[in-house]
Amino acid sequence: MIQRPHVLLSAAVSLDGYLDDASDTRLVLSNEEDWARVDGLRAASDAILVGANTIRADNPRLLVRSPELVAKRVAEGSPEQPVKVTLTRSGSLDPAAQFFTVGDAEKLVYAPPGVVTGVKATVVELSGLREVLADLHARGVRRLMVEGGGAVHTQFLTEGLVDELHLAVAPFFVGDPNAPRFVGPGAFPRGLTLVESTRLGDIAVLEYHATPEPSDVDIRHLREAIALAENCPPRTFRVGAVITAADGEVITTGFSGDGDPANHAEEAALAKLEPGDPRLAEATMYTSLEPCSSRTSHPRSCTQLILDAGIPRVVFAWREPSVFVDCVGAETLEAAGRRVIEVPALAADVRRANTHIPGVHL
Ligand SMILES: NC(=O)c1ccc[n+]([C@@H]2O[C@H](COP(=O)([O-])OP(=O)(O)OC[C@H]3O[C@@H](n4cnc5c(N)ncnc54)[C@H](OP(=O)(O)O)[C@@H]3O)[C@@H](O)[C@H]2O)c1
Ligand SMILES: [Zn+2]
Repeated sequence: MIQRPHVLLSAAVSLDGYLDDASDTRLVLSNEEDWARVDGLRAASDAILVGANTIRADNPRLLVRSPELVAKRVAEGSPEQPVKVTLTRSGSLDPAAQFFTVGDAEKLVYAPPGVVTGVKATVVELSGLREVLADLHARGVRRLMVEGGGAVHTQFLTEGLVDELHLAVAPFFVGDPNAPRFVGPGAFPRGLTLVESTRLGDIAVLEYHATPEPSDVDIRHLREAIALAENCPPRTFRVGAVITAADGEVITTGFSGDGDPANHAEEAALAKLEPGDPRLAEATMYTSLEPCSSRTSHPRSCTQLILDAGIPRVVFAWREPSVFVDCVGAETLEAAGRRVIEVPALAADVRRANTHIPGVHL
């Protein structure tokens, strides 16, 4: 798995999904309030990326405008402005473009060898979005904002490299097939969840998060967790848990009833480690069942134990149906910034191990 920045893709579109019209002047798809919102997103980013065609068409400055937001960045120890990043294959970039000449942010141009000359920027001879993202990560970029245009959006989305999508929808149609579209044709991932919709004047802002996909390694460890539940004493809710370090090595395991009859699987696994084990800061918790968020037998829920242990990532198979208790483990972990991956494809295996519990059916 490549280490890459968190990617937020932001665009403004017409009702029929265009980024602009076909005229030489830029179509206004936003209003002041929406610009302020975009400014906030820029200020929260380490870098902003656009395609070379957007530089040629719009000549954007790609700066954080608000002096307050700039001051806040500086106070937090960030550079005044995010790094500006572009991609080109042709190398056709005007050295006088505002991307290069306005503001003293660091500038990066990713291009094939030898095609870019004469611009005031660091030229990195790389193509392929994954290589570009890995390089940005190596340069310290943890949050990347992608601001167009359509060709760039299409690649990021079809390659599954977008974590958040923010769309501002303007209340009119463009209706011109020669105008640039938000995205071109392609095989797009399906898993987007609408997390927010806001009205800014007559602009609708839609915010989506990508549903994270489990890797093959995740599936393997989750199956191990599910298999561990076979060790549970009879009559209990049968759950297994596996914790791995950053390199994928299993550092502890547990199952419900392990150690203490009242122990939950996650709790039993954590109890075998020293509190504050440094490996937990980059660990993944695999558990066959969504971590519980409230319980009567022990003071802390498994969700709370995971939060307290600092585990950043949780992979689970079965979301407990609300007939038992109203579990908000996944939501609580997500709200605290932890990555939560649900693998419903393996939920049937967990239910099968628990058909002795009233209310659990295959
Ligand atoms: N409404 C909005 O939110 C918004 C935001 C941004 C842009 N726009 C509009 O979008 C339009 C531009 O969109 P677009 O789709 O034509 O172009 P684009 O996505 O901005 O840029 C495409 C160009 O980027 C370079 N490129 C893309 N992927 C690359 C890769 N993997 N490796 C190397 N180079 C790569 C290539 O440059 P070369 O051609 O140099 O090889 C390619 O032609 C403009 O009309 C602009 O106004 C609107
Ligand atoms: Zn629990």
